[in-house]
Amino acid sequence: MKHLPLACAAALACTLSIHGGTALAESSNSKSYSPGVADIMIATQVRHAKLWLAGDARNWDLADYEIDELKEGLEDIVKYFPVYKDVPVGQMIEATIMAPIKDVEAAVKAKDRARFTAAFDKLTAACNTCHQSANRPFIVVQRPTGSAFPNQSFAPKK
Ligand code: HEC
Repeated sequence: MKHLPLACAAALACTLSIHGGTALAESSNSKSYSPGVADIMIATQVRHAKLWLAGDARNWDLADYEIDELKEGLEDIVKYFPVYKDVPVGQMIEATIMAPIKDVEAAVKAKDRARFTAAFDKLTAACNTCHQSANRPFIVVQRPTGSAFPNQSFAPKK
């Protein structure tokens, strides 16, 4: 610190170094941005839709990927937001949806479309059970009626 007055003798250099410090702080702040529960839910919604489109088309590799991503998002909530707006969402996720996720995984591994369809509907029901218990009965998810992703192919690789 003994060198500081010397460095600041040149006023311009001093200003530059202060601004440099600010810029550095800002960029490290933006690096520490992390998504909240609502952001993870939007991602979950996308994965839920893509999971259906993939499984419905018997694209088991993609379905496997989507259920895995869906699970990881929910696991992040358990880990980082166990209680959210006074709702014990972590426990609720463990209790309502982890078993249906396992069933979907098993159906995908078995490449069994009928089993997948049944497991997917149970998964969807679990999403809605949790929304009801979390005081969000107005958030209702369902089987997609079509693709919202015209730029992605869900057909299995030949
Ligand atoms: C804790 C139990 C829980 C489970 C399980 C759950 N959600 Fe949610 N979900 C929530 C909560 C709580 C919110 C509201 C978040 C907020 O208020 O910021 C929410 C919000 C949403 C939203 C609204 C997002 C928006 O901003 O429009 C969607 C869509 C959604 N969830 C989809 C799903 C899907 C699909 C599943 C199942 C694969 C699922 N959720 C499973 C608790 C859950």
